[in-house]
Amino acid sequence: MNESDKTKGNEEPSGTQQGSEVTRRDFFNEITLAALGIAGVGAAVVTYRYLSPNVLFEPPTSFRVGSPDDYPVNSITFIQNQQVYIVRVPEGFYAVSAVCTHLGCITQWKPDDNLIECPCHGSKFKRDGIKVAGPAPRPLPHFAISLTPDGALLVDTLEILKPNQVLKV
Ligand code: FES
Repeated sequence: MNESDKTKGNEEPSGTQQGSEVTRRDFFNEITLAALGIAGVGAAVVTYRYLSPNVLFEPPTSFRVGSPDDYPVNSITFIQNQQVYIVRVPEGFYAVSAVCTHLGCITQWKPDDNLIECPCHGSKFKRDGIKVAGPAPRPLPHFAISLTPDGALLVDTLEILKPNQVLKV
């Protein structure tokens, strides 16, 4: 079969060029498929984000801080990742928040001054959280502290205690 035979079988109107028309059709088909694909991916992303739970992950409110033997008597230890001080006195333990009650800065234990001090606006607290200077409106709160069955100290920041409560060990 020669080239003229192929042309005879062509039923396209005269004056059109079959090769370029097919290419144009293919081009528009591909553009359409690409647009549908992009729209589909966009819809899938939006749907996934809509269906995903919008959860805020916060640190646990109850956490272990080690063994009582880890804390010498008359010591104050800053637990950085929980922003709490573990204070051991001769009578036992208590846990004091390290978050300043003024505007929420993290306080620092200053052993030379025997005070917990806030670097932001100068509030100062005794080791039991009582405010002695600065704009903080309240003392540092005491968190519940207890012993687990296996003998570890457990702090619960959801339970606020009176400052005079001490865990006797
Ligand atoms: S945040 Fe501590 S004194 Fe202002």
